[in-house]
Amino acid sequence: MPERKSKGRPQPVRLLGIETSCDETAAAVVEDGRIIHSNVIASQVELHAPYGGVFPEVAARRHIEVIGPVITQALSQAHIGVSDLDAIAATRGPGLAGSLVIGLNAAKGLALGAGLPLIGVNHLEAHLYSLFLLDETHPVTFPVVCLIVSGGHTEIILMLDHGRYRRLGATLDDAAGEAFDKVARLLGLPYPGGPALERVARNGRAEAYRFPRAWLEGTYDFSFSGLKTAVLRVVRKLQPELKAGLEPPRPGLPIPDLAASFQAAVVDVLVTKAVQAVKEFEATQLFVAGGVSANGALREALRAASPCPVRTPTPDLCTDNAAMVAAAGAARFLAGQRDSMDIDVLPGWTLATLSG
Ligand code: KG4
Ligand code: ZN
Repeated sequence: MPERKSKGRPQPVRLLGIETSCDETAAAVVEDGRIIHSNVIASQVELHAPYGGVFPEVAARRHIEVIGPVITQALSQAHIGVSDLDAIAATRGPGLAGSLVIGLNAAKGLALGAGLPLIGVNHLEAHLYSLFLLDETHPVTFPVVCLIVSGGHTEIILMLDHGRYRRLGATLDDAAGEAFDKVARLLGLPYPGGPALERVARNGRAEAYRFPRAWLEGTYDFSFSGLKTAVLRVVRKLQPELKAGLEPPRPGLPIPDLAASFQAAVVDVLVTKAVQAVKEFEATQLFVAGGVSANGALREALRAASPCPVRTPTPDLCTDNAAMVAAAGAARFLAGQRDSMDIDVLPGWTLATLSG
């Protein structure tokens, strides 16, 4: 990452990052895009658990309630005032419009009040910059292949330089995390499903069920909806008394085996495609980011198969947080980006449309 220099001495760049794209209200103070002074996350998991997924209106209302205290806490934990900051970065998209607008407006208010620059950040770029947090080993040699696997996205991106991306492929239906969450629900596991499913899968046999892999040959695209249906079909066969597959399963269902076999199918496709991209584009590194990058089976399989080093965030930085927003914001700030107070949220913002 570039450094701001003054008479040969690098000046620290401190940013407040704000993240409200989905169901976490988060604020963080980060120095030079990598030193975390505070990283506050107010999770809404318990609010959405009864719905088995994020309820957009409930999420927006909770963001409004907690955004002020979360920002105050991030500043006080960092022992810093707004006037000590160099810029304010907030997630602009992609995400839920009603949630994004709360974080972006909070950032605008603070930036305007303190006369600081505002930086609108792409949430997917922020996930990638979670890999630079706490890191001492700059600079990176490009190109880098990036596998972004979260609850809302599954994409393979070719990173050509800081801020320059080419999308190689993406999911045509469910995101990998969404598939984990839906199958976990089917198996009666608690929300959010990904970590719960990974836990029970440790006691299961990955080869117990041969679930389908959607290879979509000749592309870097993914499809997970058929896999989810295949798990549902097996559950219904084993317990025909369950009608829609929405009621909790009865005792006797081989949950660890089903979970391990499902996870193996997801990991198989993600690893095969990511490694194929690394080879085709002669990548120097493979970056893996987003909530599903916390998955141990995925990390292990990627490390075993990749011909180049695999870089993953520390577990607490895999899922949504504001430190990654501040890190991406710092790179954009140092590259000269300054956004106007008129910018709006971009709920469908893709990485490929970002310019260098
Ligand atoms: O990146 P993230 O916090 O939010 C989005 O931007 O979507 O990702 C959340 C997703 C959820 O679907 C969650 O189930 C999944 O990441 N996840 C996992 C694991 N930890 C979180 N999936 C599989 N294994 C895990 N250990
Ligand atoms: Zn995310």
